[in-house]
Amino acid sequence: RPLIDPTPPMPALHACVGFSILAFLAALHLVPALGGIFVQANLKGRDLLKTYDDPVPESLGLVCASIYILLLIVFIPFAFSDFFAHQQQQPRKIREGIVVSEFPHQQLSVYLSSILSLLIATMLGFLDDVFDIRWRHKIPIPIIAAIPLLLVYYSEGGKTDVVVPIPLRWLLGSLINLGPLYYVYMSLLSTFCTNSINILAGINGSEVSQALIIALSVILNDLLYLPWPFGFRIPLYLLGRPTGVEVGGVWSAGMAYGSRELVERHLFSLYFMLPLVGVCAGFLYHNWYPARAFPGDTLCYVTGMAFAVVGIQAHFSKTLLLFFLPQIFNFLLSCPQLFGLVPCPRHRVPRFDPGSGLLHTSHAAFKDHPPSRLATLALRALAILGFVQLTEEPSTGRIVETTNLTLLNVLLLRFGPMKEDSLVKMLIGSQVAGSALAFVVRYGLAGLVYDG
Ligand code: UD1
Ligand code: MG
Repeated sequence: RPLIDPTPPMPALHACVGFSILAFLAALHLVPALGGIFVQANLKGRDLLKTYDDPVPESLGLVCASIYILLLIVFIPFAFSDFFAHQQQQPRKIREGIVVSEFPHQQLSVYLSSILSLLIATMLGFLDDVFDIRWRHKIPIPIIAAIPLLLVYYSEGGKTDVVVPIPLRWLLGSLINLGPLYYVYMSLLSTFCTNSINILAGINGSEVSQALIIALSVILNDLLYLPWPFGFRIPLYLLGRPTGVEVGGVWSAGMAYGSRELVERHLFSLYFMLPLVGVCAGFLYHNWYPARAFPGDTLCYVTGMAFAVVGIQAHFSKTLLLFFLPQIFNFLLSCPQLFGLVPCPRHRVPRFDPGSGLLHTSHAAFKDHPPSRLATLALRALAILGFVQLTEEPSTGRIVETTNLTLLNVLLLRFGPMKEDSLVKMLIGSQVAGSALAFVVRYGLAGLVYDG
């Protein structure tokens, strides 16, 4: 790949910060301005956890996605600003016999494929809002949407080997090549990221605050890899030096810390994450308790896909997954309901008590048939861990009801009934704690099992 300049295009980063502020202001202004049109188009929902019945405009994630994607498209020329700057000096360079650099087509294809995936996610999310697509239909679509990303990954000579942790090396050797399995893993990542935020939802501010904190965590991680002026590396010294970098599936080794390619990857991630933070922060203002607008599935899908895009294209998909700890917990806990072992009501949101204004755990009852032996086993195990509360038939001891298998219910079980805004703050707290743990695992503990 032709080297254009040893220093990465920092002016583009300044422009990106400007675009992010624009994204924030646009979301702040356009969401209330367009809410009425959404209600007229029947895109509205009832806030399940309130006493009032007024329709709240739904699917405003479409406005957020439009702002986000349009700004990303306008930003593309800025991302190549260093190339254009050098282009102007080319006649002189040719005269002086210096090799002229080519346009970085590879980087452009990274951009275009990412935007394509985001557009498909937006389309899927909006269709889901309008038609309530079935699970079995909506699971494969993000996998297909990830194909352009995977091809670009392949064309970059995408690495598919994984470094084996030191304690397992006697058995497996130091590197295993996962080959096509690595591509399967990356395409599943797109489905996981898009759906996992959507199923940790239902209280005001929950979806967009998760996206906001994950995006901020990714940004913090990216900043660790930028060349700071004056050799400023304090964050790294606090965290312990990163144990090498992820190159494809490789946790460590392979690429010099501070190399242009590594810096460029994290700049790419910043270009996608900064405007996302802007748009989410602007939307959160209107979605905060008591919500004046709902995100709809569109916001969950487009933010999830944005995370999958940066994780795959900037080669840090495993670090990214560490920022999804509450979502991973919620997904694993939800599995018995998602896969039909335990009844799954249309809404698993907490139960609202209009008298006290507090949220309580919500329940799923075994109405049609008694729980299977597997379901009983799973629920009893979860009850021992304190993740569910079961109601049993006194005479037979058979389970007749369980609390819904969600993180929100676990929090309500542990800390007792609380107001909706307290619960969302607790959810935000667990997301922040998860990210803090992620940094400790990635930069502290990884050093124990991987050599840097
Ligand atoms: C997912 C959850 C479902 C949860 C729903 C809430 C699974 C498998 N599905 O379904 O259990 O009830 O999200 O978003 O876990 N709503 C509120 N307050 C909010 C946000 C949403 O009351 O702060 C209600 C509104 O009535 C809104 C509806 O939820 O209209 C949106 O639900 P939707 O996003 O369509 O549900 P799913 O994503 O299918
Ligand atoms: Mg939803």
